[in-house]
Amino acid sequence: MKKVLAMAAVIGMVAASSAYADNSSVSVKAQKTASTVCAACHGANGNSVSPLYPKLASQHEAYLAKQLHDFKSGKRKNAIMSAMVMSLSAEDIQGLAAYFSAQQEKPGSATNPKLIAAGEKIYRGGVAETGVPACMGCHSPNGAGIPVLFPRVAGQHAAYIAAQLKAFRAGTRANDPNKMMRQIALRMTDPEIAAVSQYIAALH
Ligand code: HEC
Ligand code: HEC
Repeated sequence: MKKVLAMAAVIGMVAASSAYADNSSVSVKAQKTASTVCAACHGANGNSVSPLYPKLASQHEAYLAKQLHDFKSGKRKNAIMSAMVMSLSAEDIQGLAAYFSAQQEKPGSATNPKLIAAGEKIYRGGVAETGVPACMGCHSPNGAGIPVLFPRVAGQHAAYIAAQLKAFRAGTRANDPNKMMRQIALRMTDPEIAAVSQYIAALH
């Protein structure tokens, strides 16, 4: 398994370096940091296989850069990630954001497909009784998001999506502009969070 992962990382690096031979926005340094440091958790090319770690591949460049700056300033709190970004310069952050946004995301899948139908209703129509808005209004109908403000969510691990919604609800994640996600998550129940997370994971 380890060998396969290492191979995948090497193949990814070679593919990435040829793809960006003429693109100075993805630096050799960023590719190296991504494959030697970030890949340990976020997977080769940002396609993490563990639900504990978010996928970064295909995420918008501006969103990725914002999150890295927020971890660095303490606006978004996470012990692991704040240690990771401590020594990164603004240039390093830009390079890493460009690198991961240019990687192709592998489609995800639900871990509990029974919840997909209930999740679809919330994603597409919200919850009228409690004032939860449709997620697709900001994250787009196919989950690709709308740069620069609204991140891609499609194909993300359900466990990570659910954890972020609960963090917004508890206020332990508070780096969303104008409290947009905190106000929405406050209105959501645990079963609604579980259902919409399953739908998002399977969305592509
Ligand atoms: C030891 C594991 C680990 C390593 C290594 C690691 N990360 Fe992370 N990363 C995490 C965890 C855990 C989270 C989720 C944090 C949370 O729950 O708020 C995360 C979240 C992120 C996010 C936010 C994603 C989103 O959708 O909001 C970005 C961006 C990110 N990491 C980039 C990086 C980069 C770039 C590197 C390499 C310099 C890196 N990470 C190295 C564990 C790691
Ligand atoms: C009014 C616009 C808006 C609506 C509606 C909305 N979101 Fe968001 N969402 C945002 C913004 C803005 C962010 C980025 C916050 C940041 O910059 O850190 C975000 C971030 C997220 C994240 C974190 C992604 C990551 O990679 O860490 C999740 C998960 C999420 N939204 C889920 C949902 C769900 C589920 C719904 C529907 C119930 C929803 N959102 C509705 C604006 C919206």
